[in-house]
Amino acid sequence: MDHIEKESAEELFHAQAHIWNHLFAFINSMSLKCAVELGIPDIVHNHHQPITLSELVMKLAIPKTKTAFLFRLMRILVHSGFFYQQEEGYVLTPSSRLLLKDNAKSASPFLQAMLDPILVTPWHFLSAWFQGDGLNPFETAHGRTLWDYAGEDNELNKFFNEAMASDARLVISAVVTECKVVFEGLRSLIDVGGGTGTVAKTIVESFPSLKCTVLDLPHVVANLEGNENLTYIAGDMFESIPPADAVLLKWILHDWTDEQCIKILKGCKEAISSGDREGNLRKVIIIDMVVEDRKEDHKSTETQLFFDMLMMNLVLGKEKTKKEWGKLFLESGFTHYKITPLLGLRSLIEVYP
Ligand SMILES: C[S@@+](CC[C@H](N)C(=O)[O-])C[C@H]1O[C@@H](n2cnc3c(N)ncnc32)[C@H](O)[C@@H]1O
Repeated sequence: MDHIEKESAEELFHAQAHIWNHLFAFINSMSLKCAVELGIPDIVHNHHQPITLSELVMKLAIPKTKTAFLFRLMRILVHSGFFYQQEEGYVLTPSSRLLLKDNAKSASPFLQAMLDPILVTPWHFLSAWFQGDGLNPFETAHGRTLWDYAGEDNELNKFFNEAMASDARLVISAVVTECKVVFEGLRSLIDVGGGTGTVAKTIVESFPSLKCTVLDLPHVVANLEGNENLTYIAGDMFESIPPADAVLLKWILHDWTDEQCIKILKGCKEAISSGDREGNLRKVIIIDMVVEDRKEDHKSTETQLFFDMLMMNLVLGKEKTKKEWGKLFLESGFTHYKITPLLGLRSLIEVYP
């Protein structure tokens, strides 16, 4: 084999490995899902010391004949950074600690929801959707939108809301400590599309003089009880948003087209304009991604692109760049905004009329 042929063979195998890595990337997700379903992170945690393979088999109460298979599952999870293997056994990593079921900020509900067949099936319809005229792959697959499906299927409604709540617990705990000043001086706040109220509950606990209202679809807020400072309203954000000093939109605008975002933002502007507050005390607070091409941080860019594709697949929206955000605010009648990139891959954006 001469030099050129050798090089091209190398290239060929490199290309093949690249393809294999991508086409089998789902094995990482599914192995992790299996570990969460079996409760492996919790078992490792509750063992309080490195757990050996045979102890893990015993705690899992699975047949001993599965030991060698469990070793292989744990091997890939060690490889992907979810467990460390010490000589004596397995221990948690920061990532698997975040999957513990009794960790208030657990990412397990989010993982289980995103890997549920209802949300995974539309990926098989992505190309069919490109060639057809369905609303999005979710609708092509299921014949209805995610929000309509959630309104008709109690299981989906429950696990989707719990997935959102789990993320909300993590994000809002950081927001009320790191970005406290954002809420200072506000008397009232509407959390639009606020789910089951996780964010609102934390805000009223942290700011007892603030009255919070959660506006969401009827199937989401049905039977939820508020208190003196927390009210639930069943409604449609495209129809009307009640007046308040501030409106919060967490993980809302990435769900919708630019035209729909402008409609929502105009509704928010109207809601904050009817009061008597001036300056910084009337605003829209957005928690969402600001897509950046971080060449030096390939993994973060990839995660943002995953979310962007997720929005294409499940709903109608997209993850937006700083320029796209600015254009939306301007076209909705806002004059200025401030982006605080405090929340990992997401930012807090304050938008002023
Ligand atoms: C991606 S979730 C975000 C939930 C919550 N803000 C959070 O981040 O935890 C979007 C929310 O918007 C709600 N939603 C969808 N369409 C809506 C509408 N037309 N009016 C009000 N809420 C809506 C959904 O029910 C869901 O709770």
